[in-house]
Amino acid sequence: MSIQSPKGTFDILPYGADEPWKLSHLWQYLEKIICSTASDYGYSEIRTPIYERTELFCRGVGDSSDIVMKEMFTFLDRGERSISLRPEGTASVMRAFLEHKLAEGRGVQKFFYLGPMFRYERPQSGRYRQFHQFGIEAIGCAHPAQDAETIDLLWEICRRLGLKGLKLHLNSVGDAGSRQAYREALQNFLRPHFESLSQDSKTRFEKNPLRILDSKDPGDKKILEGAPSILSSLSPDAKEHFDEVRRLLDQVAIPYEINDRIVRGLDYYTKTVFEITADVLGAQNALGGGGRFDGLIGSLGGPDLPAVGFAGGIERLIQTMLAQNAPFPEQPRPLLYLLPLGEEARRACFSLAAAGRRKGVFVEIDLHAKKVGAGLQAASKLQARFCAIIGSEEIAKGLSQLKELSTRQQIEVPLDRLIDFCLEQKK
Ligand code: HAM
Repeated sequence: MSIQSPKGTFDILPYGADEPWKLSHLWQYLEKIICSTASDYGYSEIRTPIYERTELFCRGVGDSSDIVMKEMFTFLDRGERSISLRPEGTASVMRAFLEHKLAEGRGVQKFFYLGPMFRYERPQSGRYRQFHQFGIEAIGCAHPAQDAETIDLLWEICRRLGLKGLKLHLNSVGDAGSRQAYREALQNFLRPHFESLSQDSKTRFEKNPLRILDSKDPGDKKILEGAPSILSSLSPDAKEHFDEVRRLLDQVAIPYEINDRIVRGLDYYTKTVFEITADVLGAQNALGGGGRFDGLIGSLGGPDLPAVGFAGGIERLIQTMLAQNAPFPEQPRPLLYLLPLGEEARRACFSLAAAGRRKGVFVEIDLHAKKVGAGLQAASKLQARFCAIIGSEEIAKGLSQLKELSTRQQIEVPLDRLIDFCLEQKK
C-alpha cells in the first residue's frame, strides 16, 4: 500500500479533498479575514518556530497539565536536546518576547499568530494531532478593558466569518489568593467523595484540583454538581476586575453566559477565562478560548508583566461555517482560457497570457493542447468564463473566436484587443 499521511493529520488540497473543509481556498479566505481583523485591532504578526526546547512548555503550559503530561510530541534531537513540537502558541510568543527584549521602551505589545500546533490526542471529528490555531496575545496591560478587547476581537472574527448562534462562556479563576482559597474549598468539598472519584481526578486532587472541574467522567460530574463556585472565592480585586469585564462586554452588546466550571486546560490562567462554543460541532465544540495570564512571563524568568490572549481552531471554524452555510467566496476561476493549436499559436498565446496576467486578468493557457474537444472540456472543468481557440488561421487574420462557455455564444475579437476585452467584461 502507498504511504499515507500520519494518523491525526490531513492534507489541505486545491480540489479532490474527501471533506470540503480541507479545501485550500477556504483556508486562504479564513486566514485573510483573521489577519485583517487582528490588524484592525492593532495586533502585529509574530512567527515562532514549530518546535521549541521541551522545558519551555513544561514551565509555560504547566508540568501537571494534560498537554504536557500526555499530549506532547517530544524527542531528542541528534545533539541529545529534548525538543517538543509546539502544542500551543502562547509559551513560544512569550519566549520570543523575552528573548528579543520586545518590552523595552514600549507600552502594551499586541501580537497575533497563525499556524500548525501538535497534540498527541485521540483523533476524532474536530480533534487532530496536527491542527491549526490562530491566536493573539496582548502584553503589558492589567486593565479589564484589555480582557474585553481580546474577547471582542474573537467575537468580531466570528461575526466577519458569518457565524451564528455561538455561545461565549465567561468565568474568572481569580488571582493567586482567590485560587488558593478556592483550592481549599474545593478539596474540602471533594474529600468525603475522594474514593468515588475517577483515577484521573484522584491524581489531580493534590496537584491541580481545579482541573477536576473539567472532568468528563460521569461519576465525577455527578459529585461536582454540588461543588462550590470559584466565583464565591474571588478576592475583592479579582471580583471588581471580573465585573468590569462584564460591564464592558455589555456596553458593546456581546452576549455571554457565566460558566463557573470553565477552568481551561492550561495552567497559566489568572482572572478572566473564556471559551466560545458552537452547537453544530458536537463533542469538540470549542471554537476558541483564552484568558488572562498575569504570572506567566515572570515564571519564564521575565519581568512581572500582565498579559491576556486567546487561540481559536481553524479546522473547527471552517467546519462550523460549512455546517451553517456561511458565505464563502467562490474558488477563483479563469476569465480567459487560451487554447493554442500548434507551435506558432502556443508562442502567440504565451505572450497574450503574460500580457493578461500583468494586467491582473486570470488567464489560463493550455500548454499541451492537442485537440479542441479535450481543451474545451478542460476549460469547462476550470469554469473559465471565456475560451479562445487560436490556430494559424486566427494568427494570420489577427482575429480570435471567443467562446463564452456558459452561453456557448461566440464572438469575434481582434487578437490585440483580447485582453482589454476581457478586462472590460471583468468590470
Ligand atoms: P486551547 O483551548 O488549548 O488554548 O486551544 C484553543 C483552540 O484550539 C480550541 O478552542 C480548539 O478550537 C483548538 N484546538 C485545540 N486542540 C485541538 C485539536 N487537537 N484539534 C483541533 N483543534 C484543537 C490554547 O491553546 C491557549 N494557548 C490559548 C491562549 C492564548 N490563551 C491565552 N493566549
